Amino acid sequence: MLRPIHRWIWSDHERRVRKLLAFGEVETDGGRDILRAAEVTPDPLLRRLYLEHAIDELHHGVLFRERGAALLRARALQGGTLFNSTPLPGGHGLDDLCVANEPDDRLLAFLHVAEKAAAGRFAIYKEIVDDDPSTRAIFEEVLRDEVFHMNYTYTQLTRIAPTHYRRRVWWARASRLWKRYLRVAAGIAAVFGATVLTAMYFVLLPPFAWLAKRSELREPSGWAPISGDRRHSPSSQY
Ligand SMILES: [Fe+2]
Ligand SMILES: [Fe+2]
Repeated sequence: MLRPIHRWIWSDHERRVRKLLAFGEVETDGGRDILRAAEVTPDPLLRRLYLEHAIDELHHGVLFRERGAALLRARALQGGTLFNSTPLPGGHGLDDLCVANEPDDRLLAFLHVAEKAAAGRFAIYKEIVDDDPSTRAIFEEVLRDEVFHMNYTYTQLTRIAPTHYRRRVWWARASRLWKRYLRVAAGIAAVFGATVLTAMYFVLLPPFAWLAKRSELREPSGWAPISGDRRHSPSSQY
């Protein structure tokens, strides 16, 4: 459904460079988190898989960064900040997750859902950048890895949580959806807040400024005399 929007985003050289550099960041961040997961898991098989996974993600980070930099060198990038937000909302699904405190089943469910979403996106991007064979080749390579990540996380989840793996996946999906909703809601709230404050500035402030100016004219300037029948010296400033 969003294919025309993706096509529009990727058709612009500047946006393409920003997307690639942002992917580089997301992949590297994901790689670091998964590396941490490899350090803390008590399961030896998971440790090996996490380590391979982290190496893949860090490698993806390098691929995207290098391709972004190459395109950047090919044509100087000008200013502007349109569409440089996190391209895969939630990164690897770990952005709000403290990896060190998460049990493996929860982590695997989050990873599975995020990798599946990433694989879907990369499959679309791969088709969209058909005018740029080098970027397309990167997407093809990354997509192969993401499909492997998606599958191994599910297989391992069914191994370590045979009774409740479905629940875990649904919970991860719901949580990802909720975070996405919060992101959209925060964006709308920011626009709404800025609009209301701007409107208040131009609509409410002028009458008050006008009233203040008018009452200022009625005030005598300089010292104000006090009535003569006041015998006591004032006990306070007012
Ligand atoms: Fe990746
Ligand atoms: Fe991945």
